[in-house]
Parts: sequence; C-alpha cells; structure tokens
Amino acid sequence: MKKIFGIIGDPIEHSLSPVMHNAAFEKIGLDAVYLAFRVPVAKVGDAINGAKSLGIAGLNVTIPLKEEALSFVDVEEVAKKIGAINTIDFRSGTQVGYNTDGLGSLRVLEETVGKLKGKKVLILGAGGAAKAISFYLDAEGAEVTLANRTKERATQLVSNLRNANSISLGAELKDCIADSDILINTTSVGMYPNVDAALVTADLMLPELVVFDIVYNPMETKLLREAKKAGVKRIIDGVMMLVYQGTASFRIWTNREPPIKVMEKAVRAALSREW
Ligand code: ATR
Repeated sequence: MKKIFGIIGDPIEHSLSPVMHNAAFEKIGLDAVYLAFRVPVAKVGDAINGAKSLGIAGLNVTIPLKEEALSFVDVEEVAKKIGAINTIDFRSGTQVGYNTDGLGSLRVLEETVGKLKGKKVLILGAGGAAKAISFYLDAEGAEVTLANRTKERATQLVSNLRNANSISLGAELKDCIADSDILINTTSVGMYPNVDAALVTADLMLPELVVFDIVYNPMETKLLREAKKAGVKRIIDGVMMLVYQGTASFRIWTNREPPIKVMEKAVRAALSREW
C-alpha cells in the first residue's frame, strides 16, 4: 500500500517539503506520497494522534508547532535537549520525535567553513530554529552569541548552552559582528512577503565574514544582498539547510539514502518559479 508522509504547520501553503520529498520518492521508486496539512497550534495533539491512527508513516513539523508537538510524542534525546522537534516517525506503532534542523545547518556550515570549534558565531534570533542551531554549534565548541529582539528569550536560551552569551539587537550588534567569523539569521526577517527587510546592513559587514540566512524564500534575501554589497565572499542561502534537514528526516523514515541532488534541484526549481 502507498505510504503517506506529510508536514504539519500553520501557515503551510508555501512549504517546499512536498515538492522536495515527492521528487525523492519518485527518484528512488518508493510508492509514497508527501502532503501538506494546515494544523493550528490548538489541534497539534489531535493531528499527531490522528495521523498515527490513519497509519501515516511520518510527519515533519514546522512553524509554529515545533515546541508544542513535544508533548505528544516520545522525544529522542537530542531533540529533548533542544526542546523542539521537526520530525515524527510512526513506524512500529510508536511516535518518536526528532530534530533534524540543527544537523542540517551544521552540515551546511561545515561544507563552507570546515571545523567549527573556536569559531565566533553570531546568531540573530532565539526561536525554535535558533535553539536547534545553537545547540549543535555549542556542542561543536563554537563561541555562540545570540542577538534577539526580545533579549530575555536569548538569555534564557544561553542558560542551556555551555559557552554562549546574549546581546540585544541594538548598539552592541555592530562590535559583535566585527568580532564574528560567522553570522546566521534564524529570524523570519526578510522572508516573503517582507523581502526588503534585514536586521544587518552592508556597512556592518566585512568581506571575511561568512553570512548564512536560513530563510529560503526568496533564495537571495535582503541580508544576502547586503552581504554581497559589503564584498562578503562566503554567502550561504537557506536552500541547503532545508534540503539537509529533509534528507535527515528521509533517512529516519525510510532507512534509505536520499537522492540529495534531486531534492535540491526540486527545491531550487520551485523557488525560481514561485519567487
Ligand atoms: P522559528 O521556530 O522559526 O525559529 P519562532 O520561534 O517564532 O520561529 O522565532 C522567530 C524569531 O524571529 C524570534 O527570535 C523573533 O524574535 P522575538 O523572540 O523577539 O519574537 C524573531 N523575529 C521575528 N520577527 C522579527 C522582527 N520583525 N524583528 C526582529 N526579530 C524578529
């Protein structure tokens, strides 16, 4: 029987996970389909239990459900430490929650920068994505600084890390960027439809800084345009993080090796059509 996978979130209509996973299923000849389901926060438990009853094989969980969903699954150890999940596996009658966001971002960064130990990383934001990314960077021995609009949220997150500190998005930002090796935007600033917004402008960036925006719609955000303007040589868009978190979920669900290039191509093609 055809296997059913899906993603739950709200809003969900712009998600590229269906395009990406369906391309992968087709490529490896798996009789499966991946669908998007709009689920409000108040219904997340019903949705997860219902999916299990219907025999759905696996789910991705996205904004704003990643933290709320924890209460309705058995949480794998790392996801428990992060405090958010983006993947549920329903095989063998269980419902186990994982977090593959952080691994995805770590892989993207290592491909560009190499080892992250000792690197000074400034993360903009302190939400679910920042939690996952900062957890892995901290574990790798990077020096993480979190800058968030609501500073208390960053301070709270830092208290769970080994070697991290927090600042506000105000005047402290300038010196901190000058002192950083890597800048990562994990906020929704710059995401469609607010494509002309960025938290950091060209005048604050030096060419040696690595600039990574996890936002993938549009592929070239205002932050990345500003980085180009500043002569930044290593710029990373959000597509590969989407792909790598997706490939990690795919491995959990299928025990098969995902066709990474096919998944990347499907995402980039959809993005160039839509944005
Ligand atoms: P996600 O799970 O994708 O990380 P989230 O938990 O809602 O989503 O977090 C969104 C992040 O974007 C937060 O760090 C948020 O800042 P606050 O904690 O102050 O809300 C940040 N963010 C969203 N809109 C922003 C804006 N206009 N300016 C600055 N930061 C913003």
